Amino acid sequence: MSLYDNPDFFASYAQMSRSQCGLDGAGEWQQFQKLFPDLKGKTVLDLGCGYGWHSKYAVQMGAEAVTAIDTSAKMIETAKAKNADARIDYQLCDLRAFGYPENTYDVVISNLVLHYIEDLDEIYRKVFSCLKSGGSFLFNIEHPTFTAGVGQEWITDENGTPLYWPVDDYFYPTLRQTMFLGHKVEKYHHTLTQILMGLKHAGFTLEAVEDALPPPNADFHDEMRRPMMLLVRADKP
Ligand SMILES: C[S@@+](CC[C@H](N)C(=O)[O-])C[C@H]1O[C@@H](n2cnc3c(N)ncnc32)[C@H](O)[C@@H]1O
Repeated sequence: MSLYDNPDFFASYAQMSRSQCGLDGAGEWQQFQKLFPDLKGKTVLDLGCGYGWHSKYAVQMGAEAVTAIDTSAKMIETAKAKNADARIDYQLCDLRAFGYPENTYDVVISNLVLHYIEDLDEIYRKVFSCLKSGGSFLFNIEHPTFTAGVGQEWITDENGTPLYWPVDDYFYPTLRQTMFLGHKVEKYHHTLTQILMGLKHAGFTLEAVEDALPPPNADFHDEMRRPMMLLVRADKP
């Protein structure tokens, strides 16, 4: 069962600002939004759509059709309730098992999902093949700085004030266990080489890479693990 289908975890996720306020409540949004390509008349695939905020944004920006997949039944149910639109097809599906029909989408997006995936190369290859030539893959993934730390928690002083974030075992891309919303969560630490060279080997051309900055007025030590954002293009012969 997906962790996101655990009732207690799901209830805590529902209390997060990103769940209550949508994209404006998501710390990475202001930066991520600026990287979006033109969506007018485009066909879009949203990998790990969650509540469907990005899918809804895509149709609001003029996308013609959005396929939005997620492995959590509760997420898909919530997306259909909160962000329904005749142009969005929400599907309960693991992104590793999705069919990725060839040369079908203009834009593939994925927000805060790929750190749950061990084999990034496989997904990169599939995304490349399902994009039309010149299509874009816009995604973010937890930054290796944040996934590297053993335990993935701030080191605090005796009063609980965060002092620093420990980076350890950076060079060993493996499964990492961390706590999120009071639950043990399994994520994969990927090195910069894996994240960037994997894209190159899949055939993508790099357009932009950005480290997510703390949002204005946010506590730098908030519980969001800051992602890195990437925009790449699939040029095909
Ligand atoms: C942090 S949430 C982000 C949701 C959404 N992209 C957003 O930004 O609002 C991570 C999402 O990834 C989904 N997810 C995790 N592993 C997945 C997989 N293998 N296939 C599809 N979805 C997955 C979870 O169910 C969850 O909805």
